[in-house]
Amino acid sequence: MNATQERWGSRRAFILAVTGAAVGLGNIWRFPYITGENGGAAFLLLYVAFVLLLGLPVMMAEILVGRAGRRSPMQSLGYLATQAGASRHWRWLGLFGAFTVFCILSFYSVVSGWFIEFFVASVNGNFVGLGAAEVAAGFETFLADPRRMTFTHTLFLFMTMTVVAAGVSKGLERLNNLLMPLLYLLLLLLAGYAATTEGFGPALVWLFRPDFAAVTPLVFVHAMGHAFFTLAVGACALMAYGAYMPERQSLPHAVGAVAVLDVGVALLAGIAIFSVVFTQGMDPAEGPGLMFVTLPIAFAELPWGALWLSLFFLLLLLATWTSSINLAEPMVANLQGRGMGRGRAAAAVGISVWVMGLLSVFSFSYLAEWRPLFNMTAFDLITTIPTEIFLPLGGLLIAVFAAWIMPQELAKAALGTGETGFRLWQVVVRWISIPLVVLVLVAGLV
Ligand code: PFF
Repeated sequence: MNATQERWGSRRAFILAVTGAAVGLGNIWRFPYITGENGGAAFLLLYVAFVLLLGLPVMMAEILVGRAGRRSPMQSLGYLATQAGASRHWRWLGLFGAFTVFCILSFYSVVSGWFIEFFVASVNGNFVGLGAAEVAAGFETFLADPRRMTFTHTLFLFMTMTVVAAGVSKGLERLNNLLMPLLYLLLLLLAGYAATTEGFGPALVWLFRPDFAAVTPLVFVHAMGHAFFTLAVGACALMAYGAYMPERQSLPHAVGAVAVLDVGVALLAGIAIFSVVFTQGMDPAEGPGLMFVTLPIAFAELPWGALWLSLFFLLLLLATWTSSINLAEPMVANLQGRGMGRGRAAAAVGISVWVMGLLSVFSFSYLAEWRPLFNMTAFDLITTIPTEIFLPLGGLLIAVFAAWIMPQELAKAALGTGETGFRLWQVVVRWISIPLVVLVLVAGLV
């Protein structure tokens, strides 16, 4: 296939698209609960360090491969490898990325379906006057109902695949323009409210005063996986977006803006959620249900609480929507690159992800006792292994490809900076990011 002619409408549109991919479940659902499970501030510090040392340089690597190749991830990798006289087998890295996003999207759609459920419940005023225990019990009842969960999973995936089938650069641009400012506004409101509660002080201490006693090699693995997940790096999903990047744009500037927005959302969400946790005397290590139990309580305290809560779940839904569109893109682009029509490719991806998603749905009911590995349920496994192992592994290979294998003049042109900026990026990726991923994976898993 020849290079694609499709482009994002402007530089701002590209930044918004990547921010849309980055900001999602990772910031508002996963960040608080994983920080809670790993002891708070020390985890936060590690995660921010990994964002800076690994996430950003590898994100640039990933996008620049797409930008230099201007094809689907598999084809860009194959094409650039051939240009450098290296093995065309590098294109299989694109397939590995597609497999990773396949696994991630399968649970992503299920959890985003929970937002639909909570949005509807909130519009109906179902949370009004409920205490922490009642909200938690309601959530448990919902989880145990596979039919309701399958319905919201189906609906969410359908929403995603319709946009993907239409071609991402059109619909996404307008949605992102509206979404990000609104999401920030509501998060600021919520954090402002949190500042008036008793739990605010303890929440800040918990989030920002590190206690390194609890840090094990596995905590490093969790923090590294989360850095990749939250930035949407390591699965060739941003590589697919890089293919549509405008000609004249500096990649480091774009990526820097995205990271600030992304970490900002996570911090605001964390402050709001942990303030409720400590005000209510709840357990920070509650797990994946954390935000679903804390947010309805927090909003209930505000005037017009049900309205704010509904709006918030609607915004979250839109935020996860833009991320899941990004998750689907590399699979669809790869199939399209092999000659399949975009609509059919989107349908094929949608159906397979839907089936895989049932595993997550059923792991709260029929398969609740099924622990295939490490005494973890299917849901725990699918939310952990692709994020904490596949993404770093994919990111590592992408970094090796971008900084060692592909023609370095093309990498420099695609980075869009001068000579010094390029050298700096190359040194960081070659001598910091790559060894660090290897070190953390080996130390954590062996
Ligand atoms: N960054 C998204 C989030 O934080 O919710 C998740 C994600 C999107 C991960 C795309 C990986 C990916 F390729």
